[in-house]
Amino acid sequence: MRDLTVPKPTASRLYRAMLLQYRVQERLHLGVPGRQLERAAPQPGETIVDWGCGPGRVTIPIAKHVPGSKLVAVDVEKAALQAVREKAAREGLDNVYTVLLQSHPVAIPTGSVDLVLLLDTFHSVKDKAGLLSDIGRVLKSTGRLFMDPGHMDQAKVLDHVYDSGLFCLADAWGREMLFVKEEEGTV
Ligand SMILES: C[S@@+](CC[C@H](N)C(=O)[O-])C[C@H]1O[C@@H](n2cnc3c(N)ncnc32)[C@H](O)[C@@H]1O
Repeated sequence: MRDLTVPKPTASRLYRAMLLQYRVQERLHLGVPGRQLERAAPQPGETIVDWGCGPGRVTIPIAKHVPGSKLVAVDVEKAALQAVREKAAREGLDNVYTVLLQSHPVAIPTGSVDLVLLLDTFHSVKDKAGLLSDIGRVLKSTGRLFMDPGHMDQAKVLDHVYDSGLFCLADAWGREMLFVKEEEGTV
């Protein structure tokens, strides 16, 4: 008989290490992203991209708790997107979509997104200019980019963001930063 089960995507070593870290954080009750979500302030009815979603640590709570929200989880790892889909299905969520990023531009329509979350991801992105340009493209003119650059030096992050010419800083809480699109911000 033919085996018709769909094979699970193979996860990279880096992704597996990240999963282990999140499992430990969850056990220690450090994994709940409440404070980050308060600051990112996703609003009811918004289209929100969790760029570099990993296993959906942030995607799923927002999809669950923000009424009318549409969550688009983007990652370069098929295994991450699979994990997000499985969690969404377990929670009975029908407002979670996954998009595999293979190259820019990502398969998300221009000017369709209210909020992009870029959490603990920027340091691992190779083409930072390409990423920022794509985020600027998918965001509405009133859109926001909420970023926690993880391990990366904050001054270097700001250099990249300002070099893009697309965003200005609207607010900051230590390492967490909220950017708006250049034409909407105060210069
Ligand atoms: C440390 S994890 C963070 C996961 C999640 N944002 C969180 O805070 O729980 C970084 C994730 O970014 C993904 N990633 C790396 N480069 C990327 C890129 N250019 N575009 C989208 N995702 C990327 C990795 O595969 C990984 O899942």
